[in-house]
Amino acid sequence: MGVGIEVVDLNAWYGVTHTLKDITLNIPPNSATALIGPSGCGKSTFVRCLNRMHETNPAARATGTVKVGDRDIYRDASPVEIRRRIGMVFQRPNPFPTMSIYDNVASGLKLNGFRNRKVLDEVVERSLKQSALWEEVKDDLKKKSGASLSGGQQQRLCIARALAVDPEVLLMDEPASALDPVSTSKIEDLIFNLKNEYTIVIVTHNMQQAARVAENTGFFLMGQLVEFTSTNVIFTKPKDKRTEDYITGRFG
Ligand SMILES: Nc1ncnc2c1ncn2[C@@H]1O[C@H](COP(=O)(O)OP(=O)(O)O)[C@@H](O)[C@H]1O
Ligand SMILES: [Mg+2]
Repeated sequence: MGVGIEVVDLNAWYGVTHTLKDITLNIPPNSATALIGPSGCGKSTFVRCLNRMHETNPAARATGTVKVGDRDIYRDASPVEIRRRIGMVFQRPNPFPTMSIYDNVASGLKLNGFRNRKVLDEVVERSLKQSALWEEVKDDLKKKSGASLSGGQQQRLCIARALAVDPEVLLMDEPASALDPVSTSKIEDLIFNLKNEYTIVIVTHNMQQAARVAENTGFFLMGQLVEFTSTNVIFTKPKDKRTEDYITGRFG
């Protein structure tokens, strides 16, 4: 099941560059939340703070509180455990290129010591069905490599890989922006179904996409969260003039 995310006074830096400024928001469980804003405003940094990937950069630092469910992820948990519970999908599909489709999906479980063939088979099938890739690859699971798939299929493979370790949250950083329209709409359909079981946070610079998939939307600008409310309100009657200027295409 998905869990809620509570962020309080989150600040992030790269060296002396202050990239995120006093971000406070509550992301409800089992819903999709979209993050929009012009390039460089801190969207990727923000999602990377939600699964402690930000700190993998030696120059990076973060302060504040991030609670995922009832766990304070910077205080009560190890980064490895956090990254299992909070999966991430990137803009560029990054399957392990030489591994088979099967091994790509099973990789997280194998890393965690799972060896039971029957369990692995079940998880691979379930995850590929959840990511709507099963029908296209079920006959080639061990024959084809991750790299042999199309871009859209590779992205769904990466989603299956993230789901296989049974996360509670799925972070997606512009998951469709390198894909063609048909693949993009498959990813959007997927998000729609996945939010019944997971909490989804999706960065997108496609405002129509945010409107289609997300219950709530946050607008970032220069490291600040200008507005965070229901998607419908953001796009019809935003409170902040800067949000209005952005969504009506006056900048960005
Ligand atoms: N690895 C990094 N090292 C130094 N600065 C970075 C790094 N990644 C991002 N930044 C800076 O942090 C700011 C926010 O970037 P980012 O979170 O990637 O924004 P967005 O995803 O909204 O485009 C930008 O000014 C960017 O130049
Ligand atoms: Mg980004």
